This record gives sequence, C-alpha cells and structure tokens, in this order.
Amino acid sequence: MSNNIKEKIDLVAEESKQKIEKSQNISQLEDIRINYLGKKGLITSFLKIMKDLDQSQKIEMGKKVNSIKNNIIKDIEQKKQILSNELIHQKIAEEKIDITLENDQEEYGSLHPISKTVEEISAIFANMGFYIEEGPDIESDYYNFTALNIPYEHPARQEHDTFYLQPNSEGQRKVLRTHTSPVQIRTLEKINIDKEKEIRVIVPGRTYRSDHDATHSPMFHQCEGLVVGENINMSHLKGTLIEFLKIYFNSIELSVRFRPSYFPFTEPSAEVDIGFKKLSDGTLDIGEGDDWLEVLGSGMVHPKVLEGVGINPEKYQGFAFGMGLERLTMLKYNIPDLRPFYDSDLRWLKHYGFLGINETNLHAGLNGVFS
Ligand code: DAH
Repeated sequence: MSNNIKEKIDLVAEESKQKIEKSQNISQLEDIRINYLGKKGLITSFLKIMKDLDQSQKIEMGKKVNSIKNNIIKDIEQKKQILSNELIHQKIAEEKIDITLENDQEEYGSLHPISKTVEEISAIFANMGFYIEEGPDIESDYYNFTALNIPYEHPARQEHDTFYLQPNSEGQRKVLRTHTSPVQIRTLEKINIDKEKEIRVIVPGRTYRSDHDATHSPMFHQCEGLVVGENINMSHLKGTLIEFLKIYFNSIELSVRFRPSYFPFTEPSAEVDIGFKKLSDGTLDIGEGDDWLEVLGSGMVHPKVLEGVGINPEKYQGFAFGMGLERLTMLKYNIPDLRPFYDSDLRWLKHYGFLGINETNLHAGLNGVFS
C-alpha cells in the first residue's frame, strides 16, 4: 500500500473524528455518517480501490480501513448519546416551573361556624367521658318515632313537619330524620349494657324538618346526648348540662335554669334555659341577667324506651338531651341571622368562619373556665 494512500486514509480518519466532535445535532451526525460510510462515502471509496492491490496489501489496507470504519461508527454513537443527553437537560431547563414566584392573592379556607361548634362540643363531652355515635340521615319511622315512644297521632309525624320519602313496596315510608334522637335507640340496641355497665354518647349530626323562614332551615344540626347506667338520676343530668354550658359559653357565672317540659321519650322532661341580658348595641350578653333563652331539651329516658330495646328500667336508668347547633353557634358568636349559614357566601364565611383546624381553635372549649 503506497504511503500516499495510507496518509490519505489517516487524514480522512482524523477529519472524520473532528467533524463528529464538532457536530451539534443528530441530523449533522447523520450527514457525516453518509459522507463517510454511505455507498458513495469516502471510506467506501477506499474499499473500492482495494481490488487493484496485491493480496498482502489488500489485507493491510482492509484492516486499516475497517478499524477506521468501526471507530467512526463508535464515535458517532457516542456523540449521539451526548447530544441526546444535552437535549433532555435543555428540555428540563426550559420546562422548569419557578415555584419561588410569590402569589400575592393567598386565599385561606375557613372552618364553618357549625363545624367549629361540633369540634368544641365533642371536645367538651370527650373530656367528660362521652364518645361520638352516628346514625343515618334517612331513617325508618320506627327509629325516628315509634321506638322513641312518639305516638302515631303525635303532631311531629304530620306531613308539614316531616320530610317523607316515597313509600316502598310494602307501603312503608322512610323519613329524613327530624332529630338525632333515633341514634339513642340504635346505640342502645347495639351495646350490651350488662357488659358495658354505663354508656355515655353524644351524636352530632344533620336533621331535617319541613320549615323554612328567618329562624328555621329545612336542614339543620343537632347534638344528642345519652347516658345510661345504674343509678343514673336527675342530678347527673343537671350537673352534666350545667358544666357543659358553662364551658361552652366560657362563663363560670352563667345562670342555668331547668324548666319542666314534655317529650315523649323522657320522663320527667326539662327544657334548659340560660341567662342573658340585652346590651345597648342590641347584642346579647350571655351569662347573668333577667332574661332567659332556651338552649336544650332533656330528661330522664322514658322506661318504655329502655324496655323497647330490651333494657330493664328497674335496673338501669338514663338521661338524654338534645340541642340545636345553629342556635348555640349564633349565641356564642353573635351571629344575628340563620339564613346565611347555608348560602355558601364566601364573604359571610370569611367574616364568621374560623381559620383551619389547629390547636388553638380545635378544642377552644377546653380553654374555658374549668381547665
Ligand atoms: N329530640 C328533641 C327535639 O328534636 C330534642 C330532645 C329533647 C332530645 C329531650 C332529647 C331529650 O334527647 O331528652 O326537639
């Protein structure tokens, strides 16, 4: 093989190496490949002139050209890898989102005042050894009325008070529960009082009545309470409710009055009032005063109710209570109108809502007079 050809081959090898190195994209690389290794490429042309050489020169040149060809293939592959890595990094850099940009329109959600009240009431009663029960919103006539000793002709059953669902195939009509009291029955049916000895539950939840005006919403909230055990009596009822109200309203001075009343599922029954006075600006000062506001219904669980769930009223007694959460919320936070509670008006929520759940507001009721 003449030195001339050898030099030419070396030159081509060197030149291809540099071109590959300098190439800036995949299509340039492809052009280089065609230029050197294609049918009419430089390397291919060296192979073509080999046929005129003698055997030993053919072998020598064949080896040289083949090794250069393999080097070019390898260099192109390596460069391809480098270029595609660069491409990926460039893309990542271009598509990067700058999360450090400040958003000057920060919006915080807030806790609805009813949720706040449920939190507080739950915390106060939890501290007194109560746990929380729940029941269905769609209730049978049996749990909502019959098992609670509400007679068939009782006005609460009337069409204008209760939302009745369409009758089922047996003609039975379910109701949207008109109070949280049916969960008393569900709880007592579920537990074994001989084993538990005493149960204390509260039931916060949604309730429904066919009423809609300035002081009534068709959906509203109640919290039921039930204690059943041996030797439970009226003084337990009074002590529990007085303590609860004083903590909830944050007032050790709060005057509480028990007034005889009637509920079919309790005997005796009492409504509970708290004292207040009206201030000159029209707001209410809850605590002491000559005026009374009704906040709760309560009583000793009627023996018939206990018998109905298989509990012997000679051995076990209980007390129960029920309160409207909208009313308790309005009184505590000086909210004058019930109607906006469920309008989902953000301005109202911003004004009366509470910052998200955190330690300072979650159990605020416990920061009250007794803790
Ligand atoms: N369920 C009654 C109502 O909706 C409230 C009530 C009164 C519940 C007395 C009770 C109770 O548990 O003992 O008006």
